[in-house]
Amino acid sequence: MAELNTHYLLRHREVPDIDQIAVYEAHGGYQSLRRALRDFTPEAVLELVKASGLRGRGGAGFPTGMKWSFLPNDGRPRYLVVNSDEAEPGTFKDRELIEHNPHQLIEGMIISSYAIGSHDAYIYCRGEFLRGSEQLARAIREAYAHGYLGDNILDSGFSLHIHLYRGAGAYICGEESALLESLEGKRGQPRLKPPFPAVAGLYGMPTIVNNVETIANVPVLVEKGADWYRSMGTEKSPGIKIMSVSGHVRRPGNYEVPLATPLRTLIEEYAGGVWPGKLKAIIPGGSSVPLLTPDQIDTPLDYESMIAAGSMLGSGGCIVMNDETCMVWAAHRLVKFYRVESCGKCTPCREGTYWMTNILERLESGEGSQGDLEVLLDVADNIGGKCLCPLGDASLGFMVSAIRHFRDEFEAHVREHGCPLGAKRYDPINH
Ligand SMILES: Cc1cc2nc3c(=O)[nH]c(=O)nc-3n(C[C@H](O)[C@H](O)[C@H](O)COP(=O)(O)O)c2cc1C
Repeated sequence: MAELNTHYLLRHREVPDIDQIAVYEAHGGYQSLRRALRDFTPEAVLELVKASGLRGRGGAGFPTGMKWSFLPNDGRPRYLVVNSDEAEPGTFKDRELIEHNPHQLIEGMIISSYAIGSHDAYIYCRGEFLRGSEQLARAIREAYAHGYLGDNILDSGFSLHIHLYRGAGAYICGEESALLESLEGKRGQPRLKPPFPAVAGLYGMPTIVNNVETIANVPVLVEKGADWYRSMGTEKSPGIKIMSVSGHVRRPGNYEVPLATPLRTLIEEYAGGVWPGKLKAIIPGGSSVPLLTPDQIDTPLDYESMIAAGSMLGSGGCIVMNDETCMVWAAHRLVKFYRVESCGKCTPCREGTYWMTNILERLESGEGSQGDLEVLLDVADNIGGKCLCPLGDASLGFMVSAIRHFRDEFEAHVREHGCPLGAKRYDPINH
């Protein structure tokens, strides 16, 4: 059972320089790979991942072992693609993993590739992650030099090559099919699904796309086993999760917690509590998910509890807002992000995020009119569930929930021709 401040993924906090291969090896690094290649068949690794109940940490929480088992057995090459594009506002866990513990990801990639029968694996790294991509490139070189990558790894007969690709700074390229388009050298826009990547992915071949944190769990699973993993969390949401905490807390940062840890524990014990002021709202899973209110602070951090509370665990980006935060400002700020990042391929998202941004800008500056809220919700209605990819829906998560919970505040902006919080309002620039 994981204790407060025990790390299995963020191990660099206890082991300085674990990004260097010699230090990583001295602390048990690549032992899980040796064990997997020696004692496990690929099918046995797949069964282990299935038995552990590990779910994807990129946002949707899809069971990893089940995703791997969707690969067709038709003799075509298969690829593993690691999604390191991390651009969701509020989420910064993969960045820490690749910058400080890159060998755990690489070890996880080799074991995962062995399990799914892939001989070429790719890392799609967010363009702005300069240090992260340098760390990955160096760690990959070290892994080749030590015989963990290349042909006939550790005399097992298994071969794997890892290719590192840097994106060019587009949030949409984190969406798996847009990522694959970009990796193929095309414009990063989502593909129509089905077919899903497991059937027709990179270069039309069966492909597994997994998040950095998902794959970084795999060496831990091989070392400690599925029962240990299941000793944390719940039946449907077992194991550990890195939560990124930002906003109005004393100690923002990444925290590795057993799933089902109460949100209150994350905010008050790990992150040091709300500061300054009092709690007003929490976005628990990255900017794409609906907000929770202070009375929901005891909600357990697991996939099912978060849905039952009206939100989602998502990517684990927990943004805490205090009572000085203007909800109209926050909605405007977030919707504008989605407008800028909309790839423009489908009309509801391209046009809808544009119109919502305009209306929110008007409301925020005190120039809104009666009826703007209805138009806003009508536009939202024309985006939800009507886009090629979830970016359109993501643009609505916070805004619609903010209107639901803080409608008075939106109406006051019209009535009082500006923000009712006035001078008390949280000003992110001059704070
Ligand atoms: C707009 C958008 C951006 C996304 N960005 C990321 C990202 O940066 N990293 C990530 O792992 N998944 C991201 N996803 C989710 C991926 O499409 C995909 O579900 C995920 O990489 C699968 O990995 P997992 O099963 O390990 O979670 C994004 C999805 C959308 C719609």
